[in-house]
Order: sequence, then structure tokens, then C-alpha cells
Amino acid sequence: MGIHLILTGFMGAGKTTVGKALSSLMSRPLLDTDQLIEAQAGMSVSRIFEVCGEEEFRRLETETIRTILDRKEAVVLSVGGGLPLREGNRLLLRQAGQVVYLRVKPQTVLTRLKGDTTRPLLQGGDVEEKVRNLLTLRGPVYEEGAHLIVDVDGKTPQQIGEEILCKKRLKI
Ligand code: S3P
Repeated sequence: MGIHLILTGFMGAGKTTVGKALSSLMSRPLLDTDQLIEAQAGMSVSRIFEVCGEEEFRRLETETIRTILDRKEAVVLSVGGGLPLREGNRLLLRQAGQVVYLRVKPQTVLTRLKGDTTRPLLQGGDVEEKVRNLLTLRGPVYEEGAHLIVDVDGKTPQQIGEEILCKKRLKI
């Protein structure tokens, strides 16, 4: 089993864009749980939430990381923002690679996700309150599951990717 590099964090933290930068810097394939689930299901994440329910989506997430983490080839893996909330998922991730938590401030999330319609958990109502509440609840959980924490606000994906490479060498 390869030592995978795994990116976690809240919606809008930049897991996919930082994943792209790291994939290019490390010459490794980039995999993304949401994209794999959508391809397998033939439905968007929003549609899966709507038609099958969140519980089924969470089950698909666990199934997906089990499959990916078994791969021999080391990859950069970006995981959906809610995936590390299950303790079993956090254990799987930590065993399979180096887990990097991309920590983002609520204001950055709100700016980046203004007008977004693809995140079912942020639709309708007071989005700012939802983001703040979810981040307060999830922050400590992401931290607990990570080997390394990187603050992303005000940095480019390339800068964050390079910061991760510098810090991760010291940690492995
Ligand atoms: C979710 C995050 C989303 C997606 C789904 C649920 C969450 O992924 O998996 O909408 O619970 O935080 P991103 O973090 O890539 O936006």
C-alpha cells in the first residue's frame, strides 16, 4: 500500500485546487471522492442527497475510500468535507497516508462559495450561520484526524502545496 497524501477540510477550503497543485508537484495521480462517487452513481452529489439521502451518500464515501486506499500506487486524495466526521473513516485515512487538514476561515468559505448551488448542506436559510456553526463543530474533528494542519487563507494553491511538501518531510 502506498503512502497516500490525503487532503481534508471544510467545503471551499481548496482541497481540489491544492490537490491539483500537489499532484503536479509530486507527479502523482489526483483522486477526489466526490468525483468518483458521482461517476460511479451517475448522479451529482446534490442529486444523491436528494434522491438517496445523506446516509446513503456517507455510505458511498466509506466504500470509496476503502477502494482507493487499497491501491498500490501512491496518490493525492482529496476527500469530501464531511467524510472525516465518521470515526472509522478518520482511522482509515490516518492508516493509509499522511492526512493534511486545510484549515480555512468562515469568511474565506463564504466568499468562495457565494452563489454555489452544488453543496446541499449550504442551500437555503442563513448560509453564513450554517458555515460558522458547521465549522465550529467540525474544526476539532478535522484537527484530531490530521497529521498536519495548514492554514490556507490568503495563499495560492501552489504556495499551500509547497508548504505541505516542506512540512510533511519533517513529519514522516
Ligand atoms: C460535504 C462536502 C462536499 C460534498 C457534500 C457534503 C460536507 O464536498 O461531499 O456536499 O458534508 O462537508 P467538498 O468538501 O468537496 O465541497
